[in-house]
Amino acid sequence: MDHFNYRNGVLHAEDVPLSLIAEAVGTPVYIYSRATLERHAQVFRDALRGIERKHIAFAIKANPNLAVLKVLARQGYGADVVSGGEVKRALAAGMPAHDIVFSGVGKTHAELKAALEDGVGQFNIELEEEGAVLGQIAASMGKRADAVLRVNPDVDAGTHAKISTGKKENKFGVPIDEAPGIFARLSALPGLNLRGLALHIGSQIFDLAPIEAGYRKVGELVTQLRAAGHAIDRVDLGGGLGVPYERDKVPPTPADYGAMVERATKGWDVTLYFEPGRVIVGNAGVLLTRVIWVKPGAVRPFIIVDAAMNDLARPAMYDAWHDFEAVAPTGERMIANIAGPVCESGDTFAMARDIDVVKSGDLAVFRTAGAYGATMASTYNSRALVPEVMVDGDKFAVVADRILPETILAAEHVPAFLQD
Ligand code: LLP
Repeated sequence: MDHFNYRNGVLHAEDVPLSLIAEAVGTPVYIYSRATLERHAQVFRDALRGIERKHIAFAIKANPNLAVLKVLARQGYGADVVSGGEVKRALAAGMPAHDIVFSGVGKTHAELKAALEDGVGQFNIELEEEGAVLGQIAASMGKRADAVLRVNPDVDAGTHAKISTGKKENKFGVPIDEAPGIFARLSALPGLNLRGLALHIGSQIFDLAPIEAGYRKVGELVTQLRAAGHAIDRVDLGGGLGVPYERDKVPPTPADYGAMVERATKGWDVTLYFEPGRVIVGNAGVLLTRVIWVKPGAVRPFIIVDAAMNDLARPAMYDAWHDFEAVAPTGERMIANIAGPVCESGDTFAMARDIDVVKSGDLAVFRTAGAYGATMASTYNSRALVPEVMVDGDKFAVVADRILPETILAAEHVPAFLQD
């Protein structure tokens, strides 16, 4: 459930008509609903109430906006981060360092050191060499890094190939059958406190069966490692739960997921870590855009909107579907293509879509844009970096400025050898 609803024929975010935000801030602009963020954070936590020992770390790659993180920090969420920059954001939002989980397949030596200095609570080790380096750095600082070993369980999450992470040909984790040897070698290092395992098999998952299969493999490995004398007290179950982009495709609910977790992890006797991203923020955001032209096409019209693939990359990158709705629909429908102004055909949000009739100047939104939306934006075609707004009841505030092309141009330099 989200708080983007029509009132008197106009789409609102909570109590604010989106047309008001368009007037004040311009378009395109991402709009987040605080109440929706809070609700999703609570629903996810409630779904796990049967799990006694748990830690929820929001995957901040999904939406690293400081105001969004602040809302989630207040809900008691920690952060799953994948770069030094994300560590800084989590800390800036007031998330305690010990609630931060550092994932990522390419953490640099400098990032590992800085994270140890900051007191990050868990390192998810992706390969043996990383574990050895982390152990060395920690020992040289007189510390012991709390860590878990990420395994690749070789299961097919049944999601888009570009966001599948748990098949053996993917770059993530160590092959599960090599894990016992790697675990034994790393756990002998004085600078490491290797406490358990992690996995994450992919994103936008609609079928719980492969996730459960992955968890069961990890459960067997926990038993095996304990039999070999290792103390295991943590397992990080990753994220990945899908959200409905298309209204008629229904993903498993957090409650379905929670029930599966309880079933699959029964008797593990560990603290379970969770790294949800999309399920928390996806439906808490929309991308508000204005129709520039309705261009007659040879086959059907193109709705040319002022948002483009640089603002919302998901349709171009993953053929993702985002519902498109007029802010003030007339009730009439049309079949049209929806595209942005960027100079490539990939800058297309939808083809032959049944949508509200819109005309030049009308406002519309792309739904479910709160996850992997603004954070994946770029300035391609020398377009501005898209701003972000948060709504709270009848108030709203800009939570990320529109970075203008002039500002970006000012950060570029013509070297002396080109000045004549
Ligand atoms: N944990 C790890 C280790 C991850 O790699 C990810 C996402 C998550 C948690 C959070 O997954 P979520 O719950 O959000 O599915 N840009 C793509 C998604 C990339 C996801 C990468 N990893 C998209 O727009 O669909």
